[in-house]
Amino acid sequence: MSGKNYSKAVEDIKATVNIVDVVGSCITLKRSGSGYTACCPFHNEKTPSFSVSDKKGFYHCFGCNDHGDVIKFVEKYYHLDFQGAVEKLCAQYGITIEETAGPADRKKEEYYEANKLAARYFYDNISKSANKGYDYMSGRGLSAKTMQYFGIGYGGDGWTGLTDKLLKEGVRKEVLTDLGLSREKNGRLYDYFHGRVIFPIINVRGKVIGFGGRVMDKSEPKYLNSPESAVYQKKYNLYGLNRSKDAVIREGYAILVEGYMDCVSLYQSGVENVAAVCGTALTPEQSKLIKRYTKNVVLCLDSDAAGIKAALTGIDVLKEAGLEVKVLNVDDGKDPDEYIKEHGRDAFLELLQKKSVPGVEYKVNILKRSYDLKDHTQGIKFLQELAGIIKKLSPVEGDIYIQKYSKEFGISEGALRREVEQAGDGKPGDVPLRRDVQPEQPEKTRQPSRTQLNVEHMLIRLIMLKPAFLERTRDYPEAFVSGRGRSVIAAMEALYKDGELDMAALRNELSDDDLLYLDRIEEKIQIGEDTEKSFMDCVSRLERARRTARIEEIDAILDMSDTLPEEALDQEYINKLLMEKQQLIIKNKGEN
Ligand code: GTP
Ligand code: MN
Repeated sequence: MSGKNYSKAVEDIKATVNIVDVVGSCITLKRSGSGYTACCPFHNEKTPSFSVSDKKGFYHCFGCNDHGDVIKFVEKYYHLDFQGAVEKLCAQYGITIEETAGPADRKKEEYYEANKLAARYFYDNISKSANKGYDYMSGRGLSAKTMQYFGIGYGGDGWTGLTDKLLKEGVRKEVLTDLGLSREKNGRLYDYFHGRVIFPIINVRGKVIGFGGRVMDKSEPKYLNSPESAVYQKKYNLYGLNRSKDAVIREGYAILVEGYMDCVSLYQSGVENVAAVCGTALTPEQSKLIKRYTKNVVLCLDSDAAGIKAALTGIDVLKEAGLEVKVLNVDDGKDPDEYIKEHGRDAFLELLQKKSVPGVEYKVNILKRSYDLKDHTQGIKFLQELAGIIKKLSPVEGDIYIQKYSKEFGISEGALRREVEQAGDGKPGDVPLRRDVQPEQPEKTRQPSRTQLNVEHMLIRLIMLKPAFLERTRDYPEAFVSGRGRSVIAAMEALYKDGELDMAALRNELSDDDLLYLDRIEEKIQIGEDTEKSFMDCVSRLERARRTARIEEIDAILDMSDTLPEEALDQEYINKLLMEKQQLIIKNKGEN
């Protein structure tokens, strides 16, 4: 792979290869204006929104927003990496890639070669004669065929077998230690992976870049991994993808599991579109790697605390890279390996179908667990956190989840919507697992209007007169627009019980400023005989405000869609929004 002058080749490609030629050999292009159009090969569509310009040397899809030059197109269309795409184009158009093997490239070749020799040694150990490694692996259900397919091996019973063999074959001592194959102790070299079963880590270009070795008993550490080296940087790789990438393309999604065993076990059982993250947090580089083969990922991590944390951050990293993420928890305390061994392929796939949930829903489910939703104050906190999660989504996706969760948690869409508008921009992975480590909610920035403040004061006055109103205000958390109002209502909520509110206790609880606020409301706000009517006046003003906010939001979504050509839009959705807006306007007028 190395030792070649790729940047010169890229220049040559740009100078001689016409993008329309290349794209046109893959999909049917139609002339249109100054360019060409087609149905996008990278997402499903019936009307063309994919456009190619030979003048600019670019393609752009208005449906999925994919964009790039001729090399990017070949990378995506043929699932190649950058160098692979350059090589393919050069071969096709007779461009020679100059050799410029520098010292770094030669070093890498030497390291790959040493790793390959080591992998062969490990595999010979497990496959040639009776040995403990084979017994252990077949005891865990792996067939000889699977061992061969993944190159699984055994480190050997002795302490110097690998070291001796590789030194004899001419591998330099520094290479052995750099690669972590041998360790030096008291001036002598020993096999690092002695007595372990070995999973060679092979990149998608087929090069052995490192190893993972597992003990065969209960001793620690359970796994040893190769150190990072000139040829191994773990953030760039996913275990097993070299074998599973075709299945990932075929199935249209990748299953990411935690460990080596999960990966080979699933594969052997017939779930072949699987790769393992091997105990590290998912990286942007790994996301990019998967994205070469699919846009859909199912995270299938352990359901212990570490697994949940890995899933939560993994969701954000993968989404950031533009991947669609689902999460599957394999329950009853099993990892995917154990599950599929016990229940088989079909049960696993059924579980995947029925139990995997979109990343957003997974986050919300985890969040829900750390709040007592029957408690008013906690419920509000929960909704604020929920709003933070929804805030990170695209407007359309956000809209879907606002509808879903407002129904599910029995609050109005408008309230959740406004909470989303006001939520701070969340950082990746900031879903708190425990309530006590939650950051303070940022103060809401928008200044409340006089009408809003008036509704807030009326409601507080009404609750003072008739505490049972408190229960009915729970549907309208947005009614409390001032900091004082929120703090007073929280104190009221804490003391409220069965329609009663101990006003003396409340006054005791409040800060001087909150007390002043309460006294002024009592003094200034006049409520007539008919408290029910006053309360319903407040409610109708709140409902009206919700409608106005929703109208503004619909306008914002419609504005954004204006940047797209009409045929690239989901007209049904747009129509739905337009109709909704119309009805909201009519309703708001009717209530004047
Ligand atoms: P088995 O116990 O063989 O089924 O492996 P597992 O994959 O189920 O193990 P586990 O769930 O404990 O760990 C998941 C992954 O984390 C492993 O496949 C390793 O890649 C990594 N891992 C686990 N334990 C260690 C360790 O002690 N050291 C290192 N470096 N990595 C580990
Ligand atoms: Mn396991």
